[in-house]
Amino acid sequence: MTTDASAVPEARAYTDTERYETERWAIFARQWMAIGTVDQLGTPGAYLSAWVAGYPLVVVNDGGILRAFQNVCRHRSGPLVAEGSGTCGRFVCRYHGWAYALDGRLSSARDFGAEIEPADFALLPARVAAWRGLLFVALEPTEPDLEVWLASVTEHSSSFPMESFEVTHRSSHDMAANWKVYAENYQEGYHIPLVHPGLNRQIDAADYAVVIDGSATVHTAPTRDGSATVGAWLWRFPGFALNLYPSGMCIESYWPTGPTSTRVEYTFCFSPDTPAEEAEMAVASSVDILNEDRVICEAVQRNLASGLARPGVLSPRHESGVALVQRLIADAIREHRR
Ligand code: FES
Ligand SMILES: [Fe+2]
Repeated sequence: MTTDASAVPEARAYTDTERYETERWAIFARQWMAIGTVDQLGTPGAYLSAWVAGYPLVVVNDGGILRAFQNVCRHRSGPLVAEGSGTCGRFVCRYHGWAYALDGRLSSARDFGAEIEPADFALLPARVAAWRGLLFVALEPTEPDLEVWLASVTEHSSSFPMESFEVTHRSSHDMAANWKVYAENYQEGYHIPLVHPGLNRQIDAADYAVVIDGSATVHTAPTRDGSATVGAWLWRFPGFALNLYPSGMCIESYWPTGPTSTRVEYTFCFSPDTPAEEAEMAVASSVDILNEDRVICEAVQRNLASGLARPGVLSPRHESGVALVQRLIADAIREHRR
């Protein structure tokens, strides 16, 4: 663990457009990103489309086979489907009507004849995989298979009956801060006494622990009333987190939407016997904590953009997870430039 200030990024890494494009390509195009849940694609032809870190992607149930594509028509880059979910028998481009089978083959190019060879204009694929009911996509085939990528999360979640939980709430949250501000904030409990007074009454933040396991972290904190901590708070670089409890879970996925903006997607799931009121309270509490983080992250972002921020220093006791995020980002960018 280092306290070397030279290892801490300069402020412009959090504001610069070129840096954002580098991170988008070096990190978010390569890593697996959680995009939804398998139940959203339960019927043949069901699709889910999202912009993930600025990349338009669509995942579809093609007769029981999950497929993912760039949501970009091969004619002149029109969108195949609107953002969101739906069902279709084939993809019909919303610009000039080229049609594609759900396996990506071009099936008709309106008013074109022999000018084009359909095989040259198939949709460009992305990777898709499912893990315990969660759907993940990856644009480029450079990362290991999902089960390898998720090995640490798999190990630490094995005792939780995730498959028995049902989705009850989904919500999207936008914040005016670079994604790294949020990712770093996620990795430390040092801020809890000042930023999260409610959470601070429940857990003893002085002993908030972040254990690093490869590119993942496991977070724990003792409760103030001495009751057993029965949850697991798991995170996997760059933008996946899973908060597990015996009767439910919160799936979190976040990615940049611009150099100074970040989207956080929450999916809450509970066991069917959870009283609705209890579920509502758990959701509200998570959203309150996120809003507290959003306020401080946006304030930090304004300071980073002010021209006055200098690289700081990380606490060996509290901020080893922040150092991990910074190292993984630096490694990914270095790899990208090779
Ligand atoms: S851009 Fe899709 S049909 Fe023209
Ligand atoms: Fe926080």
